[in-house]
Amino acid sequence: MKILIAGANGQLGQAMLRVCADLQLPHCGVAHAQMDITDLKQIAAVVEREQPTYVVNMAAVSDVRAAQSDAAHCYAVNRDGAANLARVCAEHSIPLLHLSTDYVFDGQLGLPYTEEHKPNPQNVYGNSKLEGEEAVRELCPQHVIVRSSWVFAATGNNFFARTLAALQRGDSVQAANDQIGCPTYAVHLAQVCAAILQQVDCDTDPPLWGTYHYCDRGPTTRYDFARTIATTFAQRTEAPEPKVEPIDSSALNDRVYSARHAVLATEKLFFTFGIRQRGWRQGVKRAVEVAAQHGLTE
Ligand SMILES: NC(=O)c1ccc[n+]([C@@H]2O[C@H](COP(=O)([O-])OP(=O)(O)OC[C@H]3O[C@@H](n4cnc5c(N)ncnc54)[C@H](OP(=O)(O)O)[C@@H]3O)[C@@H](O)[C@H]2O)c1
Repeated sequence: MKILIAGANGQLGQAMLRVCADLQLPHCGVAHAQMDITDLKQIAAVVEREQPTYVVNMAAVSDVRAAQSDAAHCYAVNRDGAANLARVCAEHSIPLLHLSTDYVFDGQLGLPYTEEHKPNPQNVYGNSKLEGEEAVRELCPQHVIVRSSWVFAATGNNFFARTLAALQRGDSVQAANDQIGCPTYAVHLAQVCAAILQQVDCDTDPPLWGTYHYCDRGPTTRYDFARTIATTFAQRTEAPEPKVEPIDSSALNDRVYSARHAVLATEKLFFTFGIRQRGWRQGVKRAVEVAAQHGLTE
């Protein structure tokens, strides 16, 4: 087994590198500068050189706002880049594990979304990720697509890291109490990806290719997520607990982030792979610890 990780410098890519090292899974991470997934020839050259048995696509334009303001670039990476990887993988009969998002759904169902629910993306990011999924399904039959939500790590451009930075500066934090989802610690998600690959590697009959949902356990609001970060931060630093204020998404005056209820149902993953959900609060504790080890400055 050898896992090639595309987008290795991202928050999930970094977590995947660590998990592979911890599990002693042979792997090779390639950052954007080493392999641009919009460049088919570059992908082919890296695959020729590294001879992986699996490719994991953790490369993406993942910033929902940036996606909205530069749609052409977002589609080039999230749709066409995914298609490029799928083409090269299919040519070499290499299975592809591809990451996707709850943003393929409209967030209006009011119930957890299963893999059977019809996607209905509401923004450029969600639509580009859906079209990326479709390309992977069409071009590379040996694929696993993992949809997840609200991925966070100690560093990187994510809600956790932005909230922690604001708390460190002593800024008050406002967070929406009408956006409901499941925060997911990047390390937990990387562990799920590694566990899937280890089982797929067993060549089961029938094979386990398909689309699966994983998010950490416990739907919550952005407000409760921010409050948990603040409480955990205050416990760690023994400082008074900073104030976090709940607000309506409408008050944010934000076209991209609006009120939504996007919880992913994870039963299919459990019944197929026996993988249970981890708790996101445990992930928050761990991420605050990791940030503290880095001086709580990143
Ligand atoms: N973040 C979330 O809340 C979330 C939720 C659900 C699913 N996901 C999915 O999980 C995956 C990983 O996301 P993440 O949170 O780890 O995002 P991230 O931290 O933004 O990492 C994405 C990485 O992709 C790289 N990249 C961008 N364009 C590229 C290109 N053309 N070729 C190669 N690499 C490129 C970026 O490098 P540069 O920065 O150098 O461009 C970055 O290192 C994505 O598929 C995302 O859609 C994320």
